[in-house]
Amino acid sequence: MSAARFSNPIFAALDTPDLPRALEIAKSIRPHVGGLKVGLEFITALGPDAVRQIVATGSPIFADTKFHDIPNTVAGASKAIAALGISIFNIHASGGEAMMRAAKDAAASVNPNVKLIAVTVLTSLEDSDLDAVGQKKPARDQVLRLAELTKKSGLDGVVCSAHEIEPIRKAIGPDFMLVVPGIRPAGADLADQKRVMTPSDALKKGADILVIGRPIVAAKDPAVAAKIIADEIAVVA
Ligand code: C5P
Repeated sequence: MSAARFSNPIFAALDTPDLPRALEIAKSIRPHVGGLKVGLEFITALGPDAVRQIVATGSPIFADTKFHDIPNTVAGASKAIAALGISIFNIHASGGEAMMRAAKDAAASVNPNVKLIAVTVLTSLEDSDLDAVGQKKPARDQVLRLAELTKKSGLDGVVCSAHEIEPIRKAIGPDFMLVVPGIRPAGADLADQKRVMTPSDALKKGADILVIGRPIVAAKDPAVAAKIIADEIAVVA
């Protein structure tokens, strides 16, 4: 495993447009998670002030913004999201090197510690979908190509599936943050996730951050669910 950037690698995905509920969950799980993720639905429905309120709970925040536009526009958006006090945000690597460099510089100008990571190929896309949008298949080669471009562009890491951890680590090395969704504790409901891995297996493979949504936030008691996962991975850490 590469050097851990956060002492607890669990980031809980607050996938809800209900701010009071999100704040309640954020406060209750805080002792058991390393951070929280807010996504496009949350940010678009509730706006920057809601993000500030989540930041104010004291947990590091990953804003899953997935920006993709011309460099000047992405730079402006990156500055705006970084200024909210979040700890990590992301953009699409397929926006290219100039876009990634512009985003990094703009974000660092207002928040020097913010981490910027990239999305390579959305896990919802298969080889046939890449053909349709004119990207080279197979998807696993495109993932590596874009991860290498991300590193070259000076970003801090990528979002990847647990099954992509080993090839990316092999190609890029340890100094690259791998943020991994699609995590399911043994026996948990898979819901719409298909290629999942348990928290401890993903850490053993070299994940830095585990993004875990429904197994925590949809549990009857999110704090208990988060504690069980935190206790399980403490064995690995
Ligand atoms: O509930 P679950 O654990 O499946 O949530 C995973 C979170 O990670 C969701 O917020 C989802 O949007 C996000 N995500 C993902 N797969 C990706 C990228 C992001 O599941 N490839």
